[in-house]
Amino acid sequence: MIAPYIKEMITSKSASAIRKMFEQGKILKAKYGDDKVFDFSLGNPDLDPPGEVLNAIEEIAKDKSHGCHGYMSNAGYDEARQAMADKETLEQGIKVTSDCVVMSVGAAAAINVVFKTLIDSDEEVIVPSPFFVDYRNYIKNYNGKLVEVKTTEDFSLDINNIKNALNSKTAAVLINSPNNPTGRIYSEEDIKNLCAALNEFGNKSGRYPYLICDEPYRAITYDNKKVPSVFDKYDYSVIVTSFAKNLSIPGERIGYICVNPNCPEKADFIGGCTFATRVLGYVNAPGFMQKVVAKSWNAKCDYSAYAKRRDLLKDVLDNAGLKYADPEGAFYVFCKVPESYGDDDAAFVEVLEKNLILCPGGAGFGMKGWFRICYCVDEKSIINSRDAFYKAAHTVKGE
Ligand SMILES: Cc1ncc(COP(=O)(O)O)c(C=O)c1O
Repeated sequence: MIAPYIKEMITSKSASAIRKMFEQGKILKAKYGDDKVFDFSLGNPDLDPPGEVLNAIEEIAKDKSHGCHGYMSNAGYDEARQAMADKETLEQGIKVTSDCVVMSVGAAAAINVVFKTLIDSDEEVIVPSPFFVDYRNYIKNYNGKLVEVKTTEDFSLDINNIKNALNSKTAAVLINSPNNPTGRIYSEEDIKNLCAALNEFGNKSGRYPYLICDEPYRAITYDNKKVPSVFDKYDYSVIVTSFAKNLSIPGERIGYICVNPNCPEKADFIGGCTFATRVLGYVNAPGFMQKVVAKSWNAKCDYSAYAKRRDLLKDVLDNAGLKYADPEGAFYVFCKVPESYGDDDAAFVEVLEKNLILCPGGAGFGMKGWFRICYCVDEKSIINSRDAFYKAAHTVKGE
């Protein structure tokens, strides 16, 4: 018999709705034709990886030296850890050394490894909503509790809500910027205020919750917006990230964890993450891809292609009369369901599907009454979805 909790997870309607939708998209495309189905369900980047990445793959594949496919330290190859430290030095603006880094099997594993390291049973992780669907599952993996705190109307951080949620059981605060699903980049001001609140709480209580910054979309921003640094503002801070989105290699499962070099618990934290990488069964991040990103981490896709798609999609949504949050980064638009549906995003998602548009509802992201559109799809799909969105948006609930 499989565990009842897992049974519930794989059979409940809401469970992994996005993945199910991805599968449903394939079925609908086989039935109606590729160009008739508008699949905006999964954040699967469709730009080709940069040449530097493909060249590094070719070059490293030629290596036939003895032991080059062997185990390495659970934290990863020295050369890869050093390259990630160089990257973080650039992004965080303070000197980061390789002993702050543990390589991971993508951002998902990085988050799991950090949670395994930090969360004691029944401890809490504060997460501003809306948030990436799988956070709930990841926290549950370690018997932790996700504490949702609302963001402001424009999806910025509400520092007072976070302050009010802090308590002696708070192991961490987890933020994601640019955000999936809203595309919001939390401002310098918001990050400063959040770090001040965490410092104040730590000074008073003696426990400094970790600030975990999930940043797989850091490089994908629009209108010259930048994601603020945290290492200069709060010592108990950690970056978890991957190359899935910025280098368009999500299937290759490569990412890393980087702790603030000034974290007083740095050695324990990195020791914990190295141990967790092993005992969660990852053992180490894929060795081949560690070597690839050590050489090509600074490459870029042409993110202006996403900016163009964002603008095309905004035009489609404006035409349909749908309200949405203007994305500053990543490749998602978070959209309000039409008025007659109220909070019932599931009902509107069904109407979208009848019009052959696939988008997950907001409930899974912790925000009912909204739905997410992922625009890393070709321009034609966005342009051709115009009539379908218009029709769906003008279908009154129950019609
Ligand atoms: C906010 C966020 N965090 C983490 C992940 C997981 O990324 P990875 O594929 O690197 O595990 C995703 C994937 O979509 C994401 O959107």
